[in-house]
Amino acid sequence: MSPAVQMRLIRIIILSIVAFIIGAGWAFWDIRNNPGASIDKGSRSVPVAGVKIGGPFTLTDHNGKVVTDQDYAGSYKLIYFGFTFCPSICPTELQKMTKAMNALGEQSKAVQPLFITIDPERDTVDVMKDYISLFGSRFVGLTGTTDQIGDVLKSYRVFAQKAQDPSMDEYTMDHSSFIYFMSPEGDLLAIYRVQDSADTIADDIRRRIFQ
Ligand code: NI
Repeated sequence: MSPAVQMRLIRIIILSIVAFIIGAGWAFWDIRNNPGASIDKGSRSVPVAGVKIGGPFTLTDHNGKVVTDQDYAGSYKLIYFGFTFCPSICPTELQKMTKAMNALGEQSKAVQPLFITIDPERDTVDVMKDYISLFGSRFVGLTGTTDQIGDVLKSYRVFAQKAQDPSMDEYTMDHSSFIYFMSPEGDLLAIYRVQDSADTIADDIRRRIFQ
């Protein structure tokens, strides 16, 4: 691994930690101000009770069809935000989602995995279609206009920012990396982190949906 890539990884990890601390602080504030809210201590996922994450969106899927959150209203959703040019973390996390879906077997039919780009400039419908096919047939890739993506990033509190790496011609993106697990109604049920394994995620989903 080159020093430049190492520096980028370190920067992404630091930014993820900062984003996590902001999120956790916000959750704590919210819980204090909403005494009815409770934290699910049984889960290894990040406590999220009372945190308003998610919301309506209008985007375009990897087949070029305009879709909204309502198109996925009947399913639980596993959502990851990233970009197709990402060299390591995004593909690892998407692969992990596919593994978790495989581990769920039949039960995975209740779950729709979504990959939403943070880089709509380069992640066109065609780019998304090619990329998403690497992760199995169940995945849907979503892109949109800069404004549409900006709105969805804001409602999911995703950190994403262009960055120029001197060792590369193309820009890259610094971004937070979490997998969001949403209910059919669009409520946040859990957030999985980079260190959560596919089995951990599958077990948590099974416990939340089927037990
Ligand atoms: Ni990435």
